Amino acid sequence: MDWGMQNRISKIIRPETGRSVMLAVDHGYFLGPTRKLENPNKTISPLLPYADALMLTRGVLRSSVSDVTNTPVVLRVSGGSSVIGESLANEGVITGMEEAIRLNAVAVAISIFIGTEYEKQNLLNLSELVNEGEKYGIPVLAVTAVGKELGKRDQRFLSLSCRIAAELGARIVKTYYCDGFEKVAGSCPVPCVIAGGPKLETELDAFEMTYNAIRQGAVGVDMGRNIWQNPHPVAMIKAVRAIVHEGAKPKEALKLFESGKKKKAPASKAKSR
Ligand code: 5RP
Repeated sequence: MDWGMQNRISKIIRPETGRSVMLAVDHGYFLGPTRKLENPNKTISPLLPYADALMLTRGVLRSSVSDVTNTPVVLRVSGGSSVIGESLANEGVITGMEEAIRLNAVAVAISIFIGTEYEKQNLLNLSELVNEGEKYGIPVLAVTAVGKELGKRDQRFLSLSCRIAAELGARIVKTYYCDGFEKVAGSCPVPCVIAGGPKLETELDAFEMTYNAIRQGAVGVDMGRNIWQNPHPVAMIKAVRAIVHEGAKPKEALKLFESGKKKKAPASKAKSR
């Protein structure tokens, strides 16, 4: 692998552990002002020091994130549909590679909706993005999206989607945890991270999902709502980090979370400028 490509990937997947805690805050690109992400700066600022990478759109990056941050940026570059529109799958590439480079992104992210009427369009978009990314040493992260059909998150569907994403050149794949996840990760020849999905009932549920995903072959998480929709988001991301990077068990993570809850979060920083 070329130096630039490898260097960017190692900014996301930490070489010390081979793992990653990415923070996903890109939800507004199709959901609008998602609960607890209405003011992105307020949500993102306290969490930034604990994220190995931040996944978001260029609009939120420019408007709501300090330009002196050291946290690497994974830029969401697919979009063009909304939760109230005809189909979430009808996405295009909304941000070009030059813009990603200008924004100092370490990777670009695109969703693919396998099995939908837009499958071919999505896969050609992914392939074209990979062609561009490989030219400049920018890794492409493919998200195996399910749209509103959360029930699609089973092992057969996710294995198929992840493998196709990797075959088409994605350097990292983001998918969902499911029963039989070891088959999903085991048949995907590039690193997989998991999304958290909608907020789970308890913190322990989120810690168990994270722990099981890592044990079954994920290199980490690209998690959003289970972190920042929690009333104690900093305690939450620290506990997730302990599982991903330090091998903490779910109940150990819960203890950390409970003690972290009692600490006062530092005041959030305004975007510089
Ligand atoms: C949407 C995404 C989101 O970033 C993803 O779903 C991660 O967030 P969450 O943990 O809230 O599910 O890629 O397509």
